[in-house]
Amino acid sequence: MKAVVYHGKQDVRVADVRKPRLKSSRDAIVKVTASAICGSDLHLYDHAVVGMRRGDIMGHEFVGTVEQVGKDVTHVALGDRVLVPFVIACGRCWYCDRGLVASCDTSNPNGFLVKPFYGSSPAGMFGYTKFFGGFAGGQAEYVRVPFGDVGLIKIPDDITDDQALLVTDIVPTAYQAVLNCGIGPGDTIAISGAGPVGQLAARCAVALGAGKVIVIDSVPERLEMAAALPGVVTINYKQAKNLHRVLAALTDGRGPDAAIDAVGMASNGRRGASVATRVRQLVLSQRDNPKALRQLIKSVRKGGTVSVVGIFAGIDVTFPLGMVFAKGVTVVGGQTHVHTHVPALFELIRSGKLDPTAIITQHLTLDDAPEAYRKFKDREPGFVKVVLRP
Ligand SMILES: NC(=O)c1ccc[n+]([C@@H]2O[C@H](COP(=O)([O-])OP(=O)(O)OC[C@H]3O[C@@H](n4cnc5c(N)ncnc54)[C@H](O)[C@@H]3O)[C@@H](O)[C@H]2O)c1
Ligand SMILES: [Zn+2]
Ligand SMILES: [Zn+2]
Repeated sequence: MKAVVYHGKQDVRVADVRKPRLKSSRDAIVKVTASAICGSDLHLYDHAVVGMRRGDIMGHEFVGTVEQVGKDVTHVALGDRVLVPFVIACGRCWYCDRGLVASCDTSNPNGFLVKPFYGSSPAGMFGYTKFFGGFAGGQAEYVRVPFGDVGLIKIPDDITDDQALLVTDIVPTAYQAVLNCGIGPGDTIAISGAGPVGQLAARCAVALGAGKVIVIDSVPERLEMAAALPGVVTINYKQAKNLHRVLAALTDGRGPDAAIDAVGMASNGRRGASVATRVRQLVLSQRDNPKALRQLIKSVRKGGTVSVVGIFAGIDVTFPLGMVFAKGVTVVGGQTHVHTHVPALFELIRSGKLDPTAIITQHLTLDDAPEAYRKFKDREPGFVKVVLRP
């Protein structure tokens, strides 16, 4: 079958690989009808997140139809349209029982590699390095879905494939980021990063009752896309001399009630990193550049919340603990509990309060993936969210 495989830094290729087979009675094989490229895939592409091996299949956002199931996967029929959350969850451990599926304790067979550094094992994920289980990804014609009895979610007839595709990761990610802000009606929320996640966070914030949403980025197309939403104002941080002051001016001098970091470790690109950050990156193989996060912690009002949804990987980032303490800021983050949010998101989409597909800018084929990765990485016009069809 055809798949997009990792080949090295900024090198993904379309290759002919072996079709997956069932390995357990809880497995399923999904025939992929659409997959998407995520900002998280760019960290792999840039080799900022390590642990991909040559030939590993990329992709963690995909929908498809049920091709084959093990005997314990009984809630779906062959041919059903399904979405597959990017986090793999067993559905039975202490965390899964509480809906905290992204913390699943048993879905990652390689969790022991991470535990010495983080203190616990992260859940498995599709197409996201040996550290997250080494599972083959969904930018392919077929995928094996472990724990298919939990990880296959039937797509209702009134939800389209494109809508469901975005619900495998970035819609629930944006939604959880906004929930974590704990905003009340009329609150002001600032969002750094107007990539797909930031765009959807702005939409979720409006849908959940924010009074004013401020979106920060430097890419004109992305700022224009955000500004088209009612209740959203934008800031080009490269043109703003002092972001902290601009945000204060928009919020009666106090700062936003809450802020979301939808940028993550690749803040401003490597070139924008401070000298200290660059030294850490070189000496400690420390790849995080928390510039946007630091600005948000400084800018949010006293007692406000900063919700971190952009990915960081390091264990040694210099963190502005003094600011957090002096201002009483709550910092919250983490992987997305996709399965848990799906029912509420289907409702939000049905009600018309949230239309996630407006951010999709390209429908291409798997063969186009190498070029699409490059253009998405370079933020070329027209490459905000790319969908690939086999
Ligand atoms: N936690 C999760 O479950 C989850 C899920 C999906 C994505 N993510 C992460 O969320 C982040 C965003 O994802 P995306 O798909 O939108 O990626 P993206 O790379 O398309 O978007 C990032 C945006 O940030 C902007 N940016 C860079 N530096 C900035 C700065 N200093 N201030 C403001 N904006 C800045 C870029 O111009 C870009 O538009 C990534 O780190 C991704 O890995 C996390
Ligand atoms: Zn993703
Ligand atoms: Zn579990």
